[in-house]
Amino acid sequence: MSISRKIHKKINLYRKYINFLRLRKSCKTLSSRIHNTPLEIFIESSRDCNIKCTMCARTFDSRFKATSGWNMSMKIFDKVLPMLPKAVKVYAFGNGEPLLNKNFMEMIKIIKSFDAIVHFNTNGVLLNEKNNELLVKVGLDSIVFSFDAATKETYEKIRRGANYEKVLNNVKNLVDLKKRFHKFNPYIGFAVVGMKQNINEIPQLLNLAKDLGVESVYIEPLLWQNDPTYEKYFNYQNLSNIEPIEIGKIMETCKNLAKKIGINFTSPLLKADDYEFIQKKEIEIIREKESRDELFCTQPWTTIFIDWDGKVHPCCGTEEIFGDLNFQPLIKIFNNEKFISLRKSIIDKKITEYCNNCVKNKRNKNVIPEISNILGYG
Ligand SMILES: C[S@@+](CC[C@H](N)C(=O)[O-])C[C@H]1O[C@@H](n2cnc3c(N)ncnc32)[C@H](O)[C@@H]1O
Ligand code: SF4
Repeated sequence: MSISRKIHKKINLYRKYINFLRLRKSCKTLSSRIHNTPLEIFIESSRDCNIKCTMCARTFDSRFKATSGWNMSMKIFDKVLPMLPKAVKVYAFGNGEPLLNKNFMEMIKIIKSFDAIVHFNTNGVLLNEKNNELLVKVGLDSIVFSFDAATKETYEKIRRGANYEKVLNNVKNLVDLKKRFHKFNPYIGFAVVGMKQNINEIPQLLNLAKDLGVESVYIEPLLWQNDPTYEKYFNYQNLSNIEPIEIGKIMETCKNLAKKIGINFTSPLLKADDYEFIQKKEIEIIREKESRDELFCTQPWTTIFIDWDGKVHPCCGTEEIFGDLNFQPLIKIFNNEKFISLRKSIIDKKITEYCNNCVKNKRNKNVIPEISNILGYG
């Protein structure tokens, strides 16, 4: 690394640290108008998709009627740049397949030049040796392949349009390139949407991941999407169709196997409480929490989500538009009346209508975990 790059990196890290101190102050003083900028930024590089997964809102949802052209332009991307020196983590994906954006690799390179941690999820179909090499060389921090089953049959039934062998080859190639270039990064994970259809294959998937050199497997339960067209599918596939005790047994098997073969295994399903959680739609949980006066979320202090077309949300869990980068700079949007009022309502322990479809109302997923505790919601 050149001396000027080293100095540049130190300056960036210093800016991030100052930003964190400001965030901490905003939280400690329960301020709704804040002095920090987002520490965590979601950039929806593309909302297009090349495949049609059966469980994904992108496939069936009436909100996603258009089929192509939903890629973030460099013009919108450039408007995020002023925030990057102070951002700790950038998620370079949203509701579509990020690799469909022709400028995606360039975007990753630019984000990395600001020394932020960069992560994205992908279906892995569009990766190839050239892209994988670029990702390794540019220093991508982590990548999650959404890989929903151990067998070809189940995988291709769920991830309609993806080829099992091709995606596994892409994973393997990335692992090989890391070795060839003597790099620890990117950290490689598998993410699985746990459904009636695939839950029994998870132990086998752990073995497959281990054989490939994948470092972690994460199981997310099938989540309700905010659209009535989803009801039939959700009712059939969600895990409430399986006895909690059975899910418990599978999770126990996975936990022990993961320990034995040396792979990281995580899932909200590992917690007994969550068996209850998956049996209800999220909305019911929110009502329950409301009545128990529990609060939850620090995302409006820490985070911002930018749609492919420049619309801005406080996180990935709400469709409510808080601003538009085409008309206002991000710094102004982050402290506009709507953001301030959302923060106020959280401070007052009120759940706003915007958050009705959020799955984790006792969320403490933050860049810096202590923030939830500072707000008293940890
Ligand atoms: C919307 S995708 C976008 C990124 C990329 N196209 C992919 O497939 O990884 C982000 C993640 O959401 C997961 N997902 C899709 N539908 C879901 C659902 N109904 N419940 C829970 N997770 C879901 C996907 O499996 C993926 O890991
Ligand atoms: S690849 Fe990702 S965005 Fe595309 S349909 Fe599947 S889960 Fe949705």
